[in-house]
Amino acid sequence: MARTPLSMTPTGWFQVAWSPEIAVGAVHTMKYFNREMVAWRSASGKVSVFDAYCEHLGAHLGHGGRVDGENLVCPFHGWEWNSQGRNVCIPYEKHPNKGRRIRSYPVVERNEAVWIWFDVDGREPYFDVPDIFADFGDGKTAADYYPPIPASTLYRPGLEIHPQYIMENGVDFAHFKFVHGTPFMPEFTRHDFGGPVSYVDFTIAFDEGATLEAATSGVESINAGLGCSVTKSWGMLDNRTMPAVTPVDDRTSDVRFTVWIGRKAGEDGPEFDGVMTDYGKTMAGFVIEQFENDIEIWAHQRYSDPPALSRKEFKGFTALRKWAVQFYPDGGPAGGDPERPYSGAVVKGHA
Ligand code: FES
Ligand SMILES: [Fe+2]
Repeated sequence: MARTPLSMTPTGWFQVAWSPEIAVGAVHTMKYFNREMVAWRSASGKVSVFDAYCEHLGAHLGHGGRVDGENLVCPFHGWEWNSQGRNVCIPYEKHPNKGRRIRSYPVVERNEAVWIWFDVDGREPYFDVPDIFADFGDGKTAADYYPPIPASTLYRPGLEIHPQYIMENGVDFAHFKFVHGTPFMPEFTRHDFGGPVSYVDFTIAFDEGATLEAATSGVESINAGLGCSVTKSWGMLDNRTMPAVTPVDDRTSDVRFTVWIGRKAGEDGPEFDGVMTDYGKTMAGFVIEQFENDIEIWAHQRYSDPPALSRKEFKGFTALRKWAVQFYPDGGPAGGDPERPYSGAVVKGHA
């Protein structure tokens, strides 16, 4: 096990749940970014995410807190908090406490998932969670795919993985052959690291004997910060995937992976609305298996900085790591590797 030297409080959008996990009226307890949090869904369906502790005397709202209409009611003295975390009622006073506010996080529900915006400095979101259908601009919608939840998901909590490790897959052409068994090393056709949302496309095939020159299939991906990406395949098994890595504490992250499999002919009528079939499940299993192969590496890897890159790898990795720096509010990766402090780099705080 190797603790990452990268900051575990990067800025961006991070998945904290799948939407169906938080029913109307539910108060869901969780821990991310070293903070106890609650997610709750109001009567009108709006999800809010708060720090877990009541601003009155500190009760944990996830233990006995309840939803009343559009407010969250504390179990200790009944104070009511609205979706912005503002106190709107003290049951035994004429007026609420207008000054106190529970820290709330911007929430977006998209692609069947609940995302929070995390920024240590409290800045408002400056980029968006991509839409796994609309943002690929090919006219496809969720109705063209089997419903992914719950049968077509993977949840691996508490792994020693940093979100950046997953993003590095987007420049790591050499791993596909060894980790995913592809017959050739994919070629990247697009690397756009110009903004906080980056775009990475590559040609890839899984069929034995396929060659790069003759390849007629590939993957496009949209990466919104380090925690959120969506991919679309073309020319092969019609699938879209959404890997999401959310830091829990200084060492670990929860990993979620959601897979949409394109409906096959005969399974696209209204009688299949909301139905996952054996075919869909089997295909999703293949895609999830590939992702699990990656996880096996990521969960035990030591972040190498500076890495020993081959000539062909240099440009892509350098661009990716430069892009990643913008999400670290403390100015970037924390210097050298704490597991290897004499590698020549300076470890922050130990100059
Ligand atoms: S601690 Fe929440 S109302 Fe008193
Ligand atoms: Fe991979």
